[in-house]
Amino acid sequence: MFQNQKITTDIYYVGVNDRQKAKFENMIPLPHGVSYNAYLIMDEKTALIDTVDIAFGDLFVNKIQSQLEGRALDYLIINHMEPDHSGSIRLLRKYYPEMIIVGNNKTLSMVEGFYGVDDNFLEIKDAGILSLGKHKLQFHLTPMVHWPETMMTYDLKEKVLFSGDAFGCFGNLNGTVMDTEMNIEKYWDEMARYYANIVGKYGAAVQKALQKLTPIDFEIICSTHGPIWKKYITKVVDMYDQFSRYEGKDGVVIVYGSMYGNTELMAETVAQGLAEAGVKEIIIHNVSKTDSSFILRDIFKYKGLIVGSPTYSNELYPEVESLLRKIEIRGIKNRAFGYFGSFTWAGAAVKRLATFAEGMKWNTANIAVEEKQGLKTDNYLACLELGKEVAELLKKPMPGNSNC
Ligand code: FEO
Repeated sequence: MFQNQKITTDIYYVGVNDRQKAKFENMIPLPHGVSYNAYLIMDEKTALIDTVDIAFGDLFVNKIQSQLEGRALDYLIINHMEPDHSGSIRLLRKYYPEMIIVGNNKTLSMVEGFYGVDDNFLEIKDAGILSLGKHKLQFHLTPMVHWPETMMTYDLKEKVLFSGDAFGCFGNLNGTVMDTEMNIEKYWDEMARYYANIVGKYGAAVQKALQKLTPIDFEIICSTHGPIWKKYITKVVDMYDQFSRYEGKDGVVIVYGSMYGNTELMAETVAQGLAEAGVKEIIIHNVSKTDSSFILRDIFKYKGLIVGSPTYSNELYPEVESLLRKIEIRGIKNRAFGYFGSFTWAGAAVKRLATFAEGMKWNTANIAVEEKQGLKTDNYLACLELGKEVAELLKKPMPGNSNC
């Protein structure tokens, strides 16, 4: 019964929307949902590119059956093994026992490891080609974008790149899947949030993948999440390039924790200092109120970061500590950084922030404001100065700009 959307003459979209899951990977909120994209190529041989989360297995099989109209499914090509894409492999094998599963050596061992499926495999090598008839599919291994087995599949006939998670974003697809047929604006921030949280640690691997893609003349990108890119290809590739180089835009993110408003008042004052120094993009996040996935998104987007924390049980405020760990894990580079904090009887937060700054090797402001109890005039003025100093740092070259 399904009329699957055509991407090109022979390629159909057979993915699904997930409007039910609250948190991706049980961590990252999905206010606009997420799609799991899969594609069916109809040729002399038929090939499915990736599957979907098993929660949607029944719908997925129905969409495939509608398209195949009784034909066999000859190949299942696995670009990425994370279970939001590989979850329906075992189910599909039940419907199509002759289906050949195509992947690289890392993929195939994961198919066995996750699903106990260990036969009808075709192992491909980098740059290998599989012919479906008119369509020739070339495989490009892109390890660690963001799992070890990740690869991309290029359809030489239609100039379509099936890119796995790369160039993907959160957000459901409402009625259509093509970027040419929708208002795309809401997806940009969700692409940044997807990149920062899922791929963000692997900037060097993304850079390698982008270099590998340079000679390929693709006209459509079919990712595993979010819209299919045709009109906005240049923009999405540029976004990936900038994020993976850790190049932020002009602007400063202030993140603070605060129990009773004292550290919060310092954050407001630092922001005033930034604004007085001419910074136009100032984003302030209360770390207890905004989920860290949104904060990380903005830290990837902007060049400046200022963190404030009260001392809590002789440590950093726990929510700030947790965020700093996420920043360290991602190895975010090239930021202008400042920090401030407060305490009631013994200060620890500012010392810990200084250690963090040292470890990140960013351009860090010399002024670090530390207040005991309520904010007083000297530190009020120091907060203004901190904002101004970080504004100046934004104009200076970053220490690791050539280092990805
Ligand atoms: Fe969308 Fe890495 O899974």
